[in-house]
Amino acid sequence: MKALAINGSPRRGANTATMLRHALAGAASRGAETKLVHLRDLSFSGCASCFACKRKGARTEGRCALRDDATPLLDEALGSDVVVLGSPMYLGGVTGAMKSLLERLVFPSLSYDVADRRCFKGRIATGFAYTMGMPHDLVERAGYPALFEANRSYLELLGGPSAYVVAADAYQFDDYARYAASNFDEREKARVRAERFPRECEEAYAMAVALCESSEVRPLGPVRRANRPGMQRPSTPRAPIGGGPGGPRP
Ligand SMILES: Cc1cc2nc3c(=O)[nH]c(=O)nc-3n(C[C@H](O)[C@H](O)[C@H](O)COP(=O)(O)O)c2cc1C
Repeated sequence: MKALAINGSPRRGANTATMLRHALAGAASRGAETKLVHLRDLSFSGCASCFACKRKGARTEGRCALRDDATPLLDEALGSDVVVLGSPMYLGGVTGAMKSLLERLVFPSLSYDVADRRCFKGRIATGFAYTMGMPHDLVERAGYPALFEANRSYLELLGGPSAYVVAADAYQFDDYARYAASNFDEREKARVRAERFPRECEEAYAMAVALCESSEVRPLGPVRRANRPGMQRPSTPRAPIGGGPGGPRP
């Protein structure tokens, strides 16, 4: 089993990367081969609106026709069993790099034909780890859950279950004393980082475990597998963490 994590933060070792590392540790605990890629290391653009993926007789099968640094990453993602994306919230959305990647990952699978909802015929379980500076109690009021749900629904176009986890009130600087940031209470931020962020990282770990379990059930089917002596039946896949069914449809 392959689990790929993609970091949309320009910072390789900050909050989002930490969440993703925990997610990959969860995947590794289920025996997955893991890899973390930072989008800041790649030079690529968003969808070029070429519509190659929507042409009659197109053989792109959910793959983006544009060729640049994102191409090998997209191939790797579509060849993985589990993909976990991570992004900070920037001005109320994911980062520009992550948005560009989402366009290239998801839109080619979105079918414009009535007969078929998706073009990609594989099955990838997907997760999303969101980080943000905003305190927890404002996240709902800011309307962020609608975006999380919309992305979850888009990612289901990759054929598997999709889930997300959220880490708010992120500790943003290594030394608050050096920044003009009196809007924030540094002591409260430090408390959140020490007490709450580790729990949110554990949620990222658990999410990846659940996504891996959902992939493990597929090849043999639960009945036959349960009857084979010497094999442990995988636990029942959990409902998506952070979101149930029924989100907006693209
Ligand atoms: C350009 C920019 C825009 C941001 N916009 C928001 C925002 O709209 N809402 C929010 O809660 N935090 C916002 N933040 C804070 C980041 O989401 C937060 O620091 C995040 O945890 C950074 O992730 P990282 O530590 O992995 O880089 C913004 C930060 C930057 C640099």
